[in-house]
Amino acid sequence: MDDQELLRTVPIFSELTDGDITSLSRLTNRRRYPKDTVVFFENEEGDFFFTIVEGRIKVTILGDDGREIILSVLGPGDFFGEMALLDNEPRSATAIAVEDSELLSLHRTDFQSVLSDNRSITAALIKILTARLRRANHQISTLALLDVYGRVARVIVDMARDEGKRLKDGRIAFRRATHQEIANRIGTTRETVTRMLKDLERQGLIHVEGREIVVQPDFEKVFD
Ligand code: CMP
Repeated sequence: MDDQELLRTVPIFSELTDGDITSLSRLTNRRRYPKDTVVFFENEEGDFFFTIVEGRIKVTILGDDGREIILSVLGPGDFFGEMALLDNEPRSATAIAVEDSELLSLHRTDFQSVLSDNRSITAALIKILTARLRRANHQISTLALLDVYGRVARVIVDMARDEGKRLKDGRIAFRRATHQEIANRIGTTRETVTRMLKDLERQGLIHVEGREIVVQPDFEKVFD
């Protein structure tokens, strides 16, 4: 796919005219990030906005005790790195490729001029930032109100909803995250997650099939 075709598939740019897409494609650069490489660190100065073409990017912050807290895992079509460009503050989090990834980068000055020239992008950006705030509120309620068992169950529900594919038999399959990744999403230990997942599996609520976790069609009700 050439850069113009790629940009067309990115939701935030979907309302742009062909002419605008052509101009934008001249301003973006493709960059490859092998698995486990850092795109940027929390607290660095940042000058680029990124859109994910391929792969997955983990957005994390470090707790005072050095533990990693995962804020989000973003995939193709998602963007990140906008906050430092919008408020001129340092990066609010670290971004790491968790798979071999390809990104399109846009420099700060170009990002700002594209935003001021295209109301549709500003509107799309606000909509997505609002969705992120809703998601963050949901995460706060998960952490503040649920015990560890409830948090693990909630992560399963969230991953099935965000990343799941429906199988022919109606069940929903999604990527089997490592137990450490799940633990870092909900502020617990890997051992606890392993124990809880085994328990959910024993109760028949989840099934691990190869590299996927599979849940029943009415999984949300079961976990409520
Ligand atoms: P920036 O602060 O420039 O660098 C870190 C980026 O991570 C930030 O921009 C956002 O793009 C992204 N980010 C920060 N917090 C969240 C969150 N809660 N959910 C999703 N993405 C986030």
